[in-house]
Amino acid sequence: MQPTRTRPFLKWAGGKYKLIDKLSPHLTGRKLIEPFVGSGAVFLNHQFERYLLGDINPDLINLYQCLKKEKQQFIKYLKTFFKPELNDQTEYLALRQEFNLRAEGRRRAALFVYLNRHGFNGLCRYNKSGGFNVPFGRHTKPYFPEKEMLYFIQRAKNAQFVCGDFVSLMNRSRRGDVVYCDPPYVPLSPTASFTSYAAQGFSYDQQIELAYRAKHLADRGVKVVISNHDNAITRKIYEDAVIESFPVRRFISCDGSNRGNAKELLAIYE
Ligand SMILES: C[S@@+](CC[C@H](N)C(=O)[O-])C[C@H]1O[C@@H](n2cnc3c(N)ncnc32)[C@H](O)[C@@H]1O
Repeated sequence: MQPTRTRPFLKWAGGKYKLIDKLSPHLTGRKLIEPFVGSGAVFLNHQFERYLLGDINPDLINLYQCLKKEKQQFIKYLKTFFKPELNDQTEYLALRQEFNLRAEGRRRAALFVYLNRHGFNGLCRYNKSGGFNVPFGRHTKPYFPEKEMLYFIQRAKNAQFVCGDFVSLMNRSRRGDVVYCDPPYVPLSPTASFTSYAAQGFSYDQQIELAYRAKHLADRGVKVVISNHDNAITRKIYEDAVIESFPVRRFISCDGSNRGNAKELLAIYE
């Protein structure tokens, strides 16, 4: 029988909820460190004594810190944004504008969840000036993830959330820890250009840097596991690692009409 898995409360591109069974056998150690935590699917589905969880997205970390601190009070406040009258394009655009003008804090955190559940496809995208620019999603009845947030609160007791680049978080690992890295992936085909990809914030040089850091940590007794597409580029980047490869079902086009099989890998450094 499949063990019960917990869904994260945010919709997040590249979430690892469906790959938990592939990852679990490799994630053993004292503390779990995730420098690219995203929606937290991996953290939520593994039992460790402690967790150190980071991401470069300040909205994500602000939200996790608010939820950890305010617990049910935050959920109660957030619920006021999940009313049928706020599931409307004009209201959505007004709240999106407010989000973009607000500094970090409780209201910005609540608006971030509202945008995640009422925006198009749960996308998280910012323009060059840092403004959130995802259009209205036209969902019939956006789901309020109360159950998932309650579970998150329970699990967050032993977790520390940090906003920053992956390098700073990896540097905080100690012998006996395990670091799971789920970076933005390299282009799907080896011929695709890295230029457009770098515009999303993760360049080829950063992919190389990540592999270099992983090897360096493994030499110091820290196990590092990295997820990525399995293609010619990643086979080269992770040439010092043990590779485990498996097929995954993937949406190729944005309207979801074109599904295909692709291969994904785990690069294991230990
Ligand atoms: C593929 S997602 C991780 C998904 C996550 N495993 C999950 O299950 O939801 C990649 C994450 O890396 C973060 N990211 C991108 N560049 C980063 C960087 N330089 N340092 C740390 N995090 C970064 C993004 O904000 C995003 O949340």
